[in-house]
Amino acid sequence: MRWQRCLASVAVIAPGVRSFAATSSKYDVGFLGYGITVYEPFCAFPCIYALFSARLNCTTAELALTKRDDAVEPEVLPYGDGWNVTDSATDACTSHNEYYMTTAAWCVKSRCPELSPADLEKFYADQFPGEIKSDLPSPFHTFDELLSSIPNAPTEAFNLTKTLNYTASIPDEMYVPVYETMRAFAKTEYDHSMYSMIIFISGLVIPIGLSLLRFFPWPTAWQTKFNAYFIDPPLVGTKHTTPIWGLGMVPTRGQSIFIAYMWIVNIVATSHGIHLSWPTPWYDNKYGAVMLFVANRCGVLSCAQLPLLILYAGRNNLLLWLTNWKHSTFLLLHRWTAFLCMLHAVLHSLLYTEIAVKGWEGFVFSVESTQMYWYIGIIATLAMVILCTISVQRVRQKAYEFFLASHILFSVMAIVATFYHINLKYEHDYGFENWLYMASAIWIFDRAIRLARSLCHGVKRAYLTPVDEDYYRLDIPGMTASGHVYLHFPSVSLWRIWENHPFSVATVTYRKVGSSARLPQPQPEITGDMEKSVQGSSNDTRSSSSVSSDTDGVEQTQKSGVVLFVRKHGGLTSLLSRKLMSTRGIPVLVEGSYGTAGSFMQDGHPTPTHQYPNLICIAGGVGITGVLPALDHFNVTGRPLGQRKLYWGVRTMPLVHSVEGMLGYDCGNAMERSWGDVGVTLSVGLRLNLRMILDSELRQQEGGTTVVVCGPAGMADDVRYIVSALGRHSGDNGPILVKLVVENFTW
Ligand SMILES: *[C@@H]1O[C@H](CO)[C@@H](O)[C@H](O)[C@H]1NC(C)=O
Ligand SMILES: *[C@@H]1O[C@H](CO)[C@@H](O)[C@H](O)[C@H]1NC(C)=O
Ligand SMILES: *[C@@H]1O[C@H](CO)[C@@H](O)[C@H](O)[C@H]1NC(C)=O
Repeated sequence: MRWQRCLASVAVIAPGVRSFAATSSKYDVGFLGYGITVYEPFCAFPCIYALFSARLNCTTAELALTKRDDAVEPEVLPYGDGWNVTDSATDACTSHNEYYMTTAAWCVKSRCPELSPADLEKFYADQFPGEIKSDLPSPFHTFDELLSSIPNAPTEAFNLTKTLNYTASIPDEMYVPVYETMRAFAKTEYDHSMYSMIIFISGLVIPIGLSLLRFFPWPTAWQTKFNAYFIDPPLVGTKHTTPIWGLGMVPTRGQSIFIAYMWIVNIVATSHGIHLSWPTPWYDNKYGAVMLFVANRCGVLSCAQLPLLILYAGRNNLLLWLTNWKHSTFLLLHRWTAFLCMLHAVLHSLLYTEIAVKGWEGFVFSVESTQMYWYIGIIATLAMVILCTISVQRVRQKAYEFFLASHILFSVMAIVATFYHINLKYEHDYGFENWLYMASAIWIFDRAIRLARSLCHGVKRAYLTPVDEDYYRLDIPGMTASGHVYLHFPSVSLWRIWENHPFSVATVTYRKVGSSARLPQPQPEITGDMEKSVQGSSNDTRSSSSVSSDTDGVEQTQKSGVVLFVRKHGGLTSLLSRKLMSTRGIPVLVEGSYGTAGSFMQDGHPTPTHQYPNLICIAGGVGITGVLPALDHFNVTGRPLGQRKLYWGVRTMPLVHSVEGMLGYDCGNAMERSWGDVGVTLSVGLRLNLRMILDSELRQQEGGTTVVVCGPAGMADDVRYIVSALGRHSGDNGPILVKLVVENFTW
């Protein structure tokens, strides 16, 4: 029937076509079902909807004031001079039509015995067509006034094919189906919100909760076994850091558990809690109606992933501060969440296209596809698809600059387009755009802190010295840092402010202010407690730079500097080296420090405990910078608890000398050397035989061992695989107790 079509199109396809709003968002903020209600009070809304296509005698003036844009072919209905009987009355007409108003009022009064007079007045003011909503003053001011104008209870039933020139009663067979449909629709909408919140909140709370488990005193052997079976190894195969088919990495088993949870909760959220009351006057096809609800669910869920995936990507991120999960784990989760977000958006678009093409539930493809919201929805979905496609590992690594610029561009596009898609369709009625506000706030927060962190050091100068054919040493005097920092070189890429590159801080050096050397000369001061010297020196730095820098004669003041190693090949680095070699230093903005030190819950650098007294560090090339802090922190005062060993695979000796010079050691060219009580084994130009090393070390070890690795992807993967395998076995002194720390910064 025609009026059913109209209801469907008003209620679902375009809420707000008529001036009454189905949701309470004009007065409330929040999410649907959580602050905002839809079709509540349920008893009253069907009265308004049942009268949607009431046949009314309107004056031409009333009809001309506002136009109804639901496309219904006018039947030949009675008309005369200055009046016209119509099925699609305007607000101006209905609000002046005594019979329309009294019929609706009687229905509300009789169907809602539990509503207080105040509630009734509120419903009347909000949802009845009234003088606020049209330019002609309405003759009825209050619900009570309207009700008292009805002389006696209506006896004649409302009839769609009769002109409403009497106060009608709306019969059950018209009222009940609409009531049930509205309730089911509202329940489904509320479940959209509930599942969105479950996904968002559990995405925050589960990492924090699991991180807290660390404080429980689990037996060491359990920890090793649990990690070896369920957390550390890759889900399948032997590779985690090394990309598979250039697409991405295989998550570790621990990461897989959380990713599996995300998939399961998303699948349940997409399919569960779809309430449909059937038969219903709103929809003509049951299958189409379910599709419509699932499509809506997907749209909302897609939005709900946005704040989460932006949070996971952030450098200044609540979760990095409150969990002991690594940044690379969150970056992995960022990509999986983004993938789910894209999938929901695609599903949403495909389902709506299908519904429109089939012409179900009042949709007409040729009409919908010319609407602005439709175009903008396509733009948002496409932006997400493109984002995911160009984010595969191969593109990220081969064309980093392109990836970065396009990533930001398309992300902004996706969010803005989603916002307008929602706004054009629902204005602010349904609260869906709250997810976008949250996403934007999280992003802006991260960016603002990043800006502050890079500006707070001021512009520094960087000096480059070649180490060997692979690496440069980069000195940034006048500051301290730990963990890793991001460098931005304004004179190399001034306008591409988004381009900054992560580097591990090798160490912090000190030199006397006023010494004639242009490059800071490394001093053997650092081996002690690095954390302390970093903190102590930052005070020095501040005082020395605030009392105009380089004042000759302030002999006691020491100036600190950060040392990093930079690969010679690679996009920005090659550009950089050409520029740096030709100048005497280059301006640099340093954003940092980032790393374990910045969080409340991270393990920090491993320290010796009675459960894990031993330390084995494995480094490849400049990966040495990733394991130095661990070596440093294992340096306990007094008798060491266990052994400290470093295995270091390098291609050439100059890097070794450069690092040793920095640390204040000089061990010549021996392969076996010692840095204090750290036994160092070098492997120059040869791969370390990791299996043999770890097997013999771990099987013979007394007490637990912490294995720290930082190096090329292949090396990190091998160590991960071998250590997890050994963790499931026993050695000479009972079960092998081992804790794996992979310091690689993977993304
Ligand atoms: C409609 O209302 C006008 C007065 O506005 C009246 O003259 C006319 O007879 C009415 N038509 C019908 C069909 O009741
Ligand atoms: C509505 O009115 C028409 C005559 O105008 C009548 O034939 C029909 O049975 C009525 N419908 C109901 C449900 O009363
Ligand atoms: C109401 O309209 C019908 C025509 O649809 C007419 O026959 C009837 O007399 C009208 N009743 C009143 C009270 O105007």
